[in-house]
Amino acid sequence: MVDSTRKVCLITGGTSGIGAAAALEIARRGMTVVIVGRSVRRCMKQLNKIRWSVPGAHVDFLIGDLSSQKEVRRLAAEFLARHPRLDVLVNNAGAYFKRREVSVDGIEMNLALNHMEGVPWRKNRGGFFDRTQERQN
Ligand SMILES: NC(=O)c1ccc[n+]([C@@H]2O[C@H](COP(=O)([O-])OP(=O)(O)OC[C@H]3O[C@@H](n4cnc5c(N)ncnc54)[C@H](OP(=O)(O)O)[C@@H]3O)[C@@H](O)[C@H]2O)c1
Repeated sequence: MVDSTRKVCLITGGTSGIGAAAALEIARRGMTVVIVGRSVRRCMKQLNKIRWSVPGAHVDFLIGDLSSQKEVRRLAAEFLARHPRLDVLVNNAGAYFKRREVSVDGIEMNLALNHMEGVPWRKNRGGFFDRTQERQN
């Protein structure tokens, strides 16, 4: 059964680097941690690492490409269907593209991934954070 009183943190780019370290530390503090990445294998590896370091940790992952606005909206909907609340949103995923590339939406990739990625999550903040407020009241 889902524990709706446990705080939930969503971390994009939780499979490596800063996001992976943050996911581990936040799980250690007792929150449910949901990471987002593009590869099931990399997400599973990170989840197993957290579970090994933090026995009983509450962890989940979502798969999607954050450079696509449609994908981010789908991920937000999937998150809402699976988790009762969102307390902390960490828009950490990012990359540096030296050569010009464009996303599926026709947006230059540095802009699409490092800046625009956060927009659909924040537009959905009513869905995320209002639900959390309701639970607390
Ligand atoms: N490290 C630094 O010195 C530094 C300095 C300034 C700013 N930053 C910023 O801090 C953040 C983390 O940096 P880091 O060095 O820890 O990065 P990193 O180790 O390269 O990890 C990047 C993360 O973003 C995810 N990611 C990349 N492209 C994605 C996409 N299209 N869709 C979904 N997920 C994607 C990766 O997941 P998968 O590959 O598994 O999908 C991975 O988990 C980035 O935003 C970076 O720009 C870092």
